[in-house]
Amino acid sequence: MFNFFKAKSKELNKDIDLSVLQTDIHSHLIPGVDDGSQSLEESISLLKQFEELGYKKVITTPHIYYNSFEEGINVLYEKLEELKLSAKASGVNIDIVLGGEHLLDDDISKRVQKNEAISFGDNYLLFEFPMRTEPMGFEAWLFNLQLAGYNLIIAHPERYAYLFDSRKLYTQLKDRGILFQMNFASLAGYYGKDTQTIAENLIKENMIDLIGSDCHGQRHIDALRKTLRNPFLKELIDSGKLINNKL
Ligand SMILES: [Fe+2]
Repeated sequence: MFNFFKAKSKELNKDIDLSVLQTDIHSHLIPGVDDGSQSLEESISLLKQFEELGYKKVITTPHIYYNSFEEGINVLYEKLEELKLSAKASGVNIDIVLGGEHLLDDDISKRVQKNEAISFGDNYLLFEFPMRTEPMGFEAWLFNLQLAGYNLIIAHPERYAYLFDSRKLYTQLKDRGILFQMNFASLAGYYGKDTQTIAENLIKENMIDLIGSDCHGQRHIDALRKTLRNPFLKELIDSGKLINNKL
């Protein structure tokens, strides 16, 4: 595990202003397509809260993995349009952009060939590793994606248990130019103490490029709110290293 840094225990005395971020990079707000929001009403309620927190844009990133969306990904674009219309009708003034959270498996190269990988902005592609086991051969998959022109972002690097003990892997990913996206909820302890400690250490090591809600439902907004006086979050935002506002 990373060197232990003495935790800063002191909460801040006022809330951190998230409006400087402008864009949330990771969420599951397309209703009924994955384990995220299950209805338009739920998505609208969540979008309202993003707006209240100061966001101007959310990039919503349904899980895309082997065998998902066998009929093609058009359904995601159709549901995106429905969500945008509904948001507008409800007076929610926030841009909604479609991305994907791609599980790094051997299906990903096929999706790229079929134009079914969903990138956003300057060809950014969000991907995740499997939660429990290190994927065999991931270096070649990442290399091929970069060769295809994608700017790769790894979702929540602090959450993969097999990376905890391997500073080398984090460094390898960084050296390959892969951007790191942390979850707010990790700093709140939502995924457990180990993940929280790794998150804090990744901030200390200046390794985080983006912060996201990974919002599947109200519980993740609640976890996000718990970090609004977190000194590590303040340090991260004040570092000026985050590129959320460039997406
Ligand atoms: Fe996610």
